[in-house]
Amino acid sequence: MARPTTIHVCSACGHQEVRWQGRCPGCGEWNTLVEERAPAAAGGAGGRARGGAGARAAARAVRPQRLRDVETPRLSRLSTGIGEFDRVLGGGLVPGSLVLLGGSPGIGKSTLTGMAMGNLAGAGHRTLYVSGEESAAQVKLRAARLPGAALDVPVLAETDLETVVATILAERPEVCVIDSVQTLYAAELTGAPGSVGQVREVAGRIARVAKETGTAVLLVGHVTKEGALAGPRVLEHLVDAVLQFEGERERTYRTLRALKNRFGSTNEAGVFEMRSGGLVEVLDASGRFVGEATRAPGSVVLASMEGSRPLLVEVQALVSPSEIVPPRRMVNGIDRNRVALVLAVLARHAGVPTGSSDVFVNVVGGVRVDEPGADLAVALAVAGAVRGASLGGDAPTPLACFGELGLTGELRSVAHPERRLEEARKFGLRTVIAPEGSGDGALAVGTLRAALRAALPAGARADRAAA
Ligand code: TYD
Ligand code: MG
Repeated sequence: MARPTTIHVCSACGHQEVRWQGRCPGCGEWNTLVEERAPAAAGGAGGRARGGAGARAAARAVRPQRLRDVETPRLSRLSTGIGEFDRVLGGGLVPGSLVLLGGSPGIGKSTLTGMAMGNLAGAGHRTLYVSGEESAAQVKLRAARLPGAALDVPVLAETDLETVVATILAERPEVCVIDSVQTLYAAELTGAPGSVGQVREVAGRIARVAKETGTAVLLVGHVTKEGALAGPRVLEHLVDAVLQFEGERERTYRTLRALKNRFGSTNEAGVFEMRSGGLVEVLDASGRFVGEATRAPGSVVLASMEGSRPLLVEVQALVSPSEIVPPRRMVNGIDRNRVALVLAVLARHAGVPTGSSDVFVNVVGGVRVDEPGADLAVALAVAGAVRGASLGGDAPTPLACFGELGLTGELRSVAHPERRLEEARKFGLRTVIAPEGSGDGALAVGTLRAALRAALPAGARADRAAA
């Protein structure tokens, strides 16, 4: 009888089964069995080394090298021709590396990779665009809208992993896009394309080919409804960098950030705008967001940090009496739990209760702010909305702020206060409420209560509202 070519391995305890089962007989965990190629079928480097010392009796000991003596190859980077993309990558694509680019459908992953490949092809590099999602004709239609040499990129519309691997080995591209990792499938595995086993097998195979041929591979991956990269954790350790492309599909602004990067910092972020001719880098994002800031009650400018770069964004809040219990908390562009914490601190320490109101908080422009420095902006926006007062009163420019809120209502300092202040000054924002010790030019306050006193016009201050 033929040996089965795949096995199912428990990702929690390593127990193996020939058939898939909902519950691992080894450890009793549910939904942990993942299909893998059976070691014999995998052949050579493919299989994971299993079994004890007896299985590899012929192995020879290797003399470890002192780190000082290890040769480090110069990382020659390939520029994608898109400044923001290169910066997030840490200076461009590293040959032989595997980069996972995640994002929800329609965000512009194919557009970004298509543009990068076009630029690389235009610069004389060998490229290959593997599309498992769209036909060659569809890829061409998109490329026709893009600037540069996007139409010169060779395309392969294919979903069979073996064919893709064979083509990469034959074509030896310097840069290759796999769009997307969820659409390729290994014929030996019975799981559907996109299942954990398949995604892992596909990424693993591609990673080995990339190292072998020195090809830099951009793996495009979808994000599930919950916001995790599909084939979630299984891929992260396999790839050299994980980039996330975020924003709202209906909005034009998108941010690209690194969640993991072996060849650069994870602090960098790039801002793009989707236009009719592809993605355009937004280099003056702060200026645009400040220019659009409304100054209405419930609006405030947050001096935030996008990695090492300061970015001014408008944070808006709307508070209205609720008809449902519990009341609504709708949050866009900021962590929900963080907003919940800010609302609790506002109620407890600043006399601004929102317990019976719906609260909506939005970072304008579809930008996502993931840093504690945003706390104060949320608090001020909500307080302004509750009191129906424009923050900063009649001052000619919008009020800016940053700072983290502690649970006792104190304002805590955050990273890079000087850069935030500098950015605010650059765009003509005179008043910046900030934690104490933030440096010259800040309106320094120690508590949320003090911040509210500084931000709200006299008539609206009314600690009286605390009932
Ligand atoms: P796409 O890159 O296909 O998204 P993803 O690969 O992440 O699913 O494109 C996203 C959207 O962008 C699509 O709805 C069409 C739009 N778009 C433009 O607005 N301008 C353009 O130049 C291109 C190519 C696409
Ligand atoms: Mg796509």
